[in-house]
Amino acid sequence: MSYNINITKIEKSKVSDLDFNNIPLGTTFTDHMFICDYDNGQWGNPRIEPLETIPTHPAAMALHYGQAIFEGMKATVDKDGNPMLFRANKNAARLNTSADRMGMPNFPEDLFVEGLKQLVDIERNWIPPQEGSALYLRPFMYADEPFIGMRAATHYKFIIIASPSNAMYSNRIKLWAEKQYIRAANGGTGEAKAAGNYAAAIRPTELAKAKGYDQVLWLDANEHRYIQEVGTMNIFFMIDGKFITPKRDGSILDGITRMSVIDVLRDKGYEVTETMITIDEIKTASRSGTLQEAFGTGTAVGIAYIQEIGLDGEVIHVSDQSPVANDVNDTLNAIKTGKVEDKFNWMTKIK
Ligand code: COI
Repeated sequence: MSYNINITKIEKSKVSDLDFNNIPLGTTFTDHMFICDYDNGQWGNPRIEPLETIPTHPAAMALHYGQAIFEGMKATVDKDGNPMLFRANKNAARLNTSADRMGMPNFPEDLFVEGLKQLVDIERNWIPPQEGSALYLRPFMYADEPFIGMRAATHYKFIIIASPSNAMYSNRIKLWAEKQYIRAANGGTGEAKAAGNYAAAIRPTELAKAKGYDQVLWLDANEHRYIQEVGTMNIFFMIDGKFITPKRDGSILDGITRMSVIDVLRDKGYEVTETMITIDEIKTASRSGTLQEAFGTGTAVGIAYIQEIGLDGEVIHVSDQSPVANDVNDTLNAIKTGKVEDKFNWMTKIK
C-alpha cells in the first residue's frame, strides 16, 4: 500500500550545533519526528513535523495504565554516505507483537518502514559516520485517550523520534545476579518491549549500582536460578568453544541484535544453542576454566563485554578479554557501515 506522508520541515536545522564526537545516547534529538494518530479504529494522518513537545491530557491512559510500547533501532551510513536501516522489518513486526500483548492496535508494518525511511532521509545529516556510532531511532506507541477506567484505549499516537549517539559502554561490565527482584515471570510482559518493564528495572538497577555493579543479571521468577537477560540486553556465554544463550520462553525480549549475533556466530562456524541456563552452570564453568566469554547484546549498546558476575557474597569471574565477541561486534559494525558485503541481506538503503 502506498501512503501519503505529509511533510512540514523546520526552517533551519540544528545539526550544525552538533559535536559528532560527543553525543551520549538519548541526549540530542534531530529536527523532525514522524507522527500518526489512531482514532475510530484506524491509523490516519501520517506526517513528519518539526520535533516539539506534544500537549497531553492529564487523563491520557498511558500515564495511568501504562499502555506504552517502543522499539529501538539504528540508521548508519555506508562508505558513500548513503543512509541505511538495519533489519527494520523485524522492529516493525516486534512492535506489533508488543502491541498484541498490551491490548494495543497493530501499526501497519509497511507504514512503519516507510515512515522511518522518509524521516531518516530528511535527517541524513544527523547520522554520525564513525563506526559504532549511529542515528538511534525510537518508534513508540502510547494511549493518549483521556479516560479513567480499566480498558483498552481507543486513541493512540505512534511517533518516531531520532537521536544521534556515539557507541556506549567501552568498558567491561560487572553484573549483579538479582534474587530479590525479577524482570519477568511466565505469562507476564517480558517479551513485549513495554515501557513498564523498563520502569520496574530502575530500582533494582540503582541498588546494583550502589553495590558497585553496572547492570542487573535477571533470573527467573520462580527459582531465581535460570538466567534471562542482563540490564536491557540479551546475554550470551561461550563455554568450551561453544555458545549458549537463554531460550525464548515468553519472558525474554526477542532481541534483534540477539538474532543477528546468533546468525553471525553460526556463520563463523560456532555452535550456538538456545537453552535454559542456570547461574550454577556458569559458576561451575568459571571454576573449571571453561567459561571463556560472556556478553550482552542490544540495539543501543551493540555488544557489552562482561567481566564478572556478583552474587550473595561471591564473584564469578568471566574473562578479561572477549576476542570472539569483539570479532562479532566488528562484523556487525562492518555490515552496518557497508564495509563488508551484506551477505544476510539485513540492510535497507535509503537513496
Ligand atoms: C535498546 O537497546 O535499544 C533499548 O531499548 C534499551 C534502552 C534502555 C536504550
